[in-house]
Amino acid sequence: MPQERDIEERIERLLSQMTLAEKIGQLNQVPNSQNLDHDSIRAGSVGSVLCATNPTAGNVAQERVFASYLNELQHLAVEESRLGIPLLFGRDVIHGHRTVAPIPLGQACAWDPGLVERASADAAREARADGLNWTFTPMLDIARDPRWGRIAEGYGEDPFLASQMARSAVRGLQGSDLSDPQRIAACAKHYVGYGAAEGGRDYNTTEITPATLRNVYLPPFKAAVEAGVASVMSAFHEIGGIPSTANRHLLREVLKNEWGFEGMVVSDWASVDELVQHGVAEDRAQAARLALEAGLDMDMVSEVYIQELASLVERGAVGEELLDDAVRRVLRLKLRLGLFERPYTDEALARTVHLRDDHRRNALELAKASVVLLSNREDLLPLPVRGKTLGVFGSMSDVQSQLFGTWTLDGQKDDVVSIVSAMRERFGRVEHAVLADDCVSRARFCDVVVAVVGESPGRSGEDNSTQSLELPPGQQTFLEALAAVGKPLVVVVVAGRPLAIEWIMDHADAVVWAFHPGGEGGTAIASILVGESSPSGRLPVTFPRSVGQVPLYYSHKSTGRPDPPAGRYIDGSDQPLLPFGFGLAYTRFGYSRLEIEGGDRLRCAASVRNTGDRPGEEVVQLYVRDLVGSITRPAKELRGFEKVALDPGEEKVVSFELGEEDLGFYLPDERFVVEPGRFLLWIGPNAKEGLEGSFEYREGRFHPGDPVPHR
Ligand code: NOJ
Repeated sequence: MPQERDIEERIERLLSQMTLAEKIGQLNQVPNSQNLDHDSIRAGSVGSVLCATNPTAGNVAQERVFASYLNELQHLAVEESRLGIPLLFGRDVIHGHRTVAPIPLGQACAWDPGLVERASADAAREARADGLNWTFTPMLDIARDPRWGRIAEGYGEDPFLASQMARSAVRGLQGSDLSDPQRIAACAKHYVGYGAAEGGRDYNTTEITPATLRNVYLPPFKAAVEAGVASVMSAFHEIGGIPSTANRHLLREVLKNEWGFEGMVVSDWASVDELVQHGVAEDRAQAARLALEAGLDMDMVSEVYIQELASLVERGAVGEELLDDAVRRVLRLKLRLGLFERPYTDEALARTVHLRDDHRRNALELAKASVVLLSNREDLLPLPVRGKTLGVFGSMSDVQSQLFGTWTLDGQKDDVVSIVSAMRERFGRVEHAVLADDCVSRARFCDVVVAVVGESPGRSGEDNSTQSLELPPGQQTFLEALAAVGKPLVVVVVAGRPLAIEWIMDHADAVVWAFHPGGEGGTAIASILVGESSPSGRLPVTFPRSVGQVPLYYSHKSTGRPDPPAGRYIDGSDQPLLPFGFGLAYTRFGYSRLEIEGGDRLRCAASVRNTGDRPGEEVVQLYVRDLVGSITRPAKELRGFEKVALDPGEEKVVSFELGEEDLGFYLPDERFVVEPGRFLLWIGPNAKEGLEGSFEYREGRFHPGDPVPHR
């Protein structure tokens, strides 16, 4: 990597040679459309090409891009423009490139930062081999409303878990040296609070208090910045009247000044122009001024900067020092990526890198780890492979590309083994049908029936909000008819969001959940069904019983009337169907001997024992509750987790350490405080169960305590 000092000197040297038009050109990102203007690249009016042609590219098939093509474009910039500044090539490489890993919500189910880092590194290697040097991931929007289709793209409801995933994704994509030709610049998006959209409708308004923003929505972004993320994308929505693309406080004051972020801020697709639609800018010129002043460096495709900034600067309406700050950030990224030294990509590389065996193995490991076993009556699973007639039925049982999930631009259908094909590989022959009446009539001749249902990826992702959390049309009736046959029934659900599956939980003998599991998903699910692998996924979101309970999340506040019957629904339960962190294995785990030791840090530990007769993995989770604060505090907050593998009868002590930073929180005036007082603590298998203890924190020291009576 070029030295930081060299980089800063080179930035200043370049900046001093640039005309106003060339500076603004660096802030202009254009889409890779048919009419991409080569002369504008030669003129230095393009800083980046976005290799997608559609605002919601995740839901629309995109042309592949090849290194040869991007090299040609790069040639125009490097050899034919006055200053030879190379282009950034961005594309949404969200959960894999040619090798496709599970969607981010599925990755979070693995509770395994190492696996996420490996799959992210593989995606980077494959994308860079196509000539791409920048991607728009990870998406770090905390999402507590499954109606919002983009819940699929993030890591779920919890800031602590999402922050761990953020660090892993950034480390995997960028490594420690961005100029390494196997790495790619990451982008933390959508800054910030986009997942809180009212009604779960995409792009919608949010009202988030400063304390909630700091305590819930900002932490994953802060984690990404601390991990060195190269860029941040501003979101489409508004918070309390201020569109994120023009939010000076959040972009300039918090992100850039307070956190010291030196990277680049890019808008979302045309969101600079959308400031006019939001009604905070009278015209595009005002939109340009608001965005630049707020700290928005690069304009994604709306061409507002390229058309408006020059005259704003010339008239003195926008200070040139603001423009220079934005340009420096773009140049810094290009220098860190080593693009000036190595602007071109070896065109033969993709052939040797795409779908490499180790990439597929990593995607398979992650897909297996992302599968969550939700119920398993009388240990129906794993299925015996011999001597039984097995039926594999349902609309999702024989799909290939629909296993990929939203935002798969470069995966190829033919590389995917469907669930039924993977089951055939293991059983030889299975009964199989997709049409409901065929399934029902064949089920009669089966010993065990596996029904695979769920959502097509086209139903989740951007601009795909739903009012209902029921299965898509027809599937509930199908399951009821299949259950009526009376054979042991395994239901596998493949989806992009939590669905309301109370009926399934009540009627199926076993339930297996997979958020769209990617290219290796068919193999992963089959290997779990037959017990070649054991299920170890845990939910990164609370599952509601019905859409009317939404938003429902474990770290809610206690309220002034926490005890029943106050504040309950009169027409249904207020309890989740499945708690955050929940998931079963093919064995059972017992927790005992909670120990808490004080000092200037707190050490707590519990023994976890595999009490069943099969090996398995448990995700041991640590939760904390601050009993009294100067603002109300959540009923529980995740503060640690560890995945442990245990053989039958084996016992391990799992320990965690907490420091005062783990107890702190932000007040409404955005000050971070650590307040002394009493805390509860749980070590257990999910947000609802666990061994309970308590401790006190006073004058910089932790003291173990007796269980505290509490509500
Ligand atoms: C719009 C989406 O909101 C964003 O996530 C994506 O990265 C951009 N389009 C670029 O495709």
